[in-house]
Amino acid sequence: MTKAPTPTLPRLRRRETQTPAIAIPSAASGGGLGWGLSVSAPISPAGGAEITGVDLSRPLSDAAQNCIHQTLLNHQFLVFPDQMLTREQQYAFTAQFGEVEAHGGGRPDKRRDVAHLTTNLDADGNPSDRFAKGANYRWHTDKPYYATPPALTTLYAVELPPSGGDTELANTRVAYDALDDDMKRRIAGLRVVFQWEAGRRPGYYASELPPVDHPLVRTHPETGKRALYLGHHALRILGMAEDEGAALLDTLLAHATQPHFTYAHRWRPGDLVIWDNRCMLHHAVANYEMTRYRRIMHRNVVKGGVPF
Ligand code: OGA
Ligand code: MN
Repeated sequence: MTKAPTPTLPRLRRRETQTPAIAIPSAASGGGLGWGLSVSAPISPAGGAEITGVDLSRPLSDAAQNCIHQTLLNHQFLVFPDQMLTREQQYAFTAQFGEVEAHGGGRPDKRRDVAHLTTNLDADGNPSDRFAKGANYRWHTDKPYYATPPALTTLYAVELPPSGGDTELANTRVAYDALDDDMKRRIAGLRVVFQWEAGRRPGYYASELPPVDHPLVRTHPETGKRALYLGHHALRILGMAEDEGAALLDTLLAHATQPHFTYAHRWRPGDLVIWDNRCMLHHAVANYEMTRYRRIMHRNVVKGGVPF
C-alpha cells in the first residue's frame, strides 16, 4: 500500500550530519542588533534545521522572528543549541509565535506566564519509570483531543540522564507524500476521532473533554501542504467499523514512523526544540534508567486553529 522509500537514507542524528551552515546575512536577520542567524538544514530525512547565532532569552527583531518562522515552515522543526532560558524567558520566546496555551486546563492555581515542567519525577520528586507508559512516550501530536489543537510546541532541556532520554520526531507531511495514490484516495476525506487517553485518568481535566474529530489528512494553514494527523490519542475513524478504523490508523502510524521519516534528538542541556504539531509526531524515548536519573524539560504550546 505504501511506496518503497527511494533511496533508503540512514537516520541521521544531529551531531553526525555534515550539512554546511548557511549564514543568513545579518541585515536579513539580526538587523541593527549586529548579530546574524546561521541555519543548517535539513538535519535529517524528516526535515529539521539547526539555528545558531541567536539568543532566545532576548526579544527577537522582526527580521529574526520572520526568519525563524519561515525556516520552521520550510523544515517542520528547529533545534537551537546552547540556550540559557528561565521558564519566563521560554514563555516569552514562545509567545512571539502566537498565543501560548494555558497548561492544566487553565486551572486558576496554574501560572500562565511560564513554561511548565515535563519530568520523570513522581509526586515525591523521585525519578520513576511509570511515565514510560504515558502518552509522552508514545507517538503523538500535542493535544489533538482539542477542537483547536496547538500549532507549535517548544521543549527545552534542563536536566538529562547521562545518556539517552531522546525525543524522536516523525514528519507526517513527508510520510503522506510517500503514500501511493490508492492509499491517498482511500483516506481522502476521512475523519479521525481523538480523545485524551480514552479517559483513562478520571478526574484529570482532559479526560472530561468529549471526543472530537479532525481530518486524517490535514492541510497546513500556512504552507498548504497535506500531512497525516493521527497518533496515540486517535481512536477510530468516523463512520467506519471500530476495528477497521483502528487497523487503518495502526497501518498509517507504522508507515509514518519508519526510520526514514524520523529523527532522534539526542539532547544536551540548553537545547531548545520547536516543532510544528500540524505535520509532526513526536515521543520521548525510554532509553535511559528512568528510576535512577532525572529528566527535566520545560515546555510551552502555541494555540492553533481548527484543522481542515
Ligand atoms: C511533550 C512531549 C516528549 C519528551 O512535552 O509534549 O511529548 O521527549 N515531550 O519529553
Ligand atoms: Mn507531546
